[in-house]
Amino acid sequence: MDKSRLSYIAAPMVNQSDLPFRLLVRKYGATLAYTQMLLPSKLLNDRDYLDFHQRDLSIASTLGELGNGTPVVVQLCGDDPEMIVSAGKKLQGYCDAIDLNLGCPQEAAREGHYGAYLLGPKDRKLVQDIVSDMSNSLTVPISVKLRLCNPAPSTIDLGLSLEACGASWVALHARTISARNRRKGAADLSVVKNLKEALTIPVVSNGNVRQWQDLQKNLEVTGADGVMVGETLLGNPCIFAGVNPDPFQISLEYLDLCRQYPETVTIPIVQSHIRHFVDFKLGRRPWYKKFRATIGECQTLDDIQAHIVGWMKTLKVYDNAGPADCDSNATRDGDDDDTADIDLTSLW
Ligand SMILES: Cc1cc2nc3c(=O)[nH]c(=O)nc-3n(C[C@H](O)[C@H](O)[C@H](O)COP(=O)(O)O)c2cc1C
Repeated sequence: MDKSRLSYIAAPMVNQSDLPFRLLVRKYGATLAYTQMLLPSKLLNDRDYLDFHQRDLSIASTLGELGNGTPVVVQLCGDDPEMIVSAGKKLQGYCDAIDLNLGCPQEAAREGHYGAYLLGPKDRKLVQDIVSDMSNSLTVPISVKLRLCNPAPSTIDLGLSLEACGASWVALHARTISARNRRKGAADLSVVKNLKEALTIPVVSNGNVRQWQDLQKNLEVTGADGVMVGETLLGNPCIFAGVNPDPFQISLEYLDLCRQYPETVTIPIVQSHIRHFVDFKLGRRPWYKKFRATIGECQTLDDIQAHIVGWMKTLKVYDNAGPADCDSNATRDGDDDDTADIDLTSLW
């Protein structure tokens, strides 16, 4: 993959990296989008799960770069090299690269022995085998997304070994596994910088981007080849374009994409995207709780659209302050970073 594609990356996010959302962020400046983490055992044993994701990716690949469907990276997790390779073979024809998840901090990952629970020294050989087997057996480039190891300097050794095993790039979410809640600490970008200096392959920096200016700052501090954004992109899908969109307009644009590509996303996921868009800017407005609740009651895309249009007409904020009057620091109590609160065993 052309290195310039690594500049601005939409992070993998369980239940949030659906096709319409990926198309939206690609339209607004993301140079590359990841799928959510997919489970190899389900790709191999659950026909509906495989069909769903193959269909999503085949639409994306038909749309191609011009239609914002590609480039796309499929993310897999797991601890069984053979199973990961077999699952990768099912999807390699529809994507530009396949990524190994070494960052998931969820309980399910601990129980299943994957994600960030493979970062310790005892699993180093296993990780090397997985990445070697992937890069020797699959036809697309292999990347790895990892968290900080403990102690942090050992992240560099891991990066060097991933490079030696054939990884084409690595993305470092510079927080340790214990920093599940983003408010527990900033990402340690100094390790991204050290990793970049140590490796020959491209390094992507992930963490600490809250607004457009942070993108440039992050790249300056780390010297990385690109920056990956997760949570902030959920609130502002246009951050890479330096645009601060009207949350209701961007919701309508997202709904259009959902309508254009039916059955690529469920209603609960659509509702969650809409809430993120509006919450990001207007989450502290007195009416927000009611807005959130009414969106939650909608059963169809048409319902959601009608509610949004209704709120746009009603809200005084539009008459008085205008959509640019926002509170981008609004936070949602209880919202965790990463895949917290998400049912990883569901179809998605
Ligand atoms: C809702 C949500 C789901 C996530 N799902 C995944 C995932 O499937 N795979 C993964 O590697 N990371 C996942 N992450 C972590 C992000 O990719 C990213 O590493 C993390 O949020 C830090 O970046 P940020 O500070 O820009 O959000 C998820 C994060 C969020 C908020």
